[in-house]
Amino acid sequence: MASDQAVLDSLKSLAASAPDAQSLMAETVAMLQRARRHYNWLGVYLLEGTVLVLGPYVGKPTPHTRIALNQGICGAAASSGKTVIVDDVNSDPRYLACSLETRSEIVVPIVREGQVLGEIDVDSDQPAAFTEDDCRLLEAVAEILAAKLV
Ligand code: SME
Repeated sequence: MASDQAVLDSLKSLAASAPDAQSLMAETVAMLQRARRHYNWLGVYLLEGTVLVLGPYVGKPTPHTRIALNQGICGAAASSGKTVIVDDVNSDPRYLACSLETRSEIVVPIVREGQVLGEIDVDSDQPAAFTEDDCRLLEAVAEILAAKLV
């Protein structure tokens, strides 16, 4: 498995050469899915007013392409500005199901100058798949994306 440092180094080169934020987000989700086998679905939601709108993603199509800030685990992470890890999505009443296979989820806000711009959402088919390591890695990824989202 590629180290966090190797993943972040590749991401920094992608960020330096990507023509815009949209292509960087698309390349980032694809690269992260290759780097971490337990990331079965990955997407970036961007905050437009009070709604999270799905941007680039990898994995099966989801019905949740627009999520209000008071809905879902996605809404909880964006409205608090804090990373949310759910070990068992089926026992979390906030969970908006997108795939029957999903067992756990992490949502990491993308924040610049104290303002939430969006978030990275990752679903895993394994229960309790996400640890502090994923939190650290994805928060560093979110910082790099935030710098490109002008
Ligand atoms: N599960 C999320 C919705 C997005 S899908 O996972 C892609 C939630 O509860 O907010």
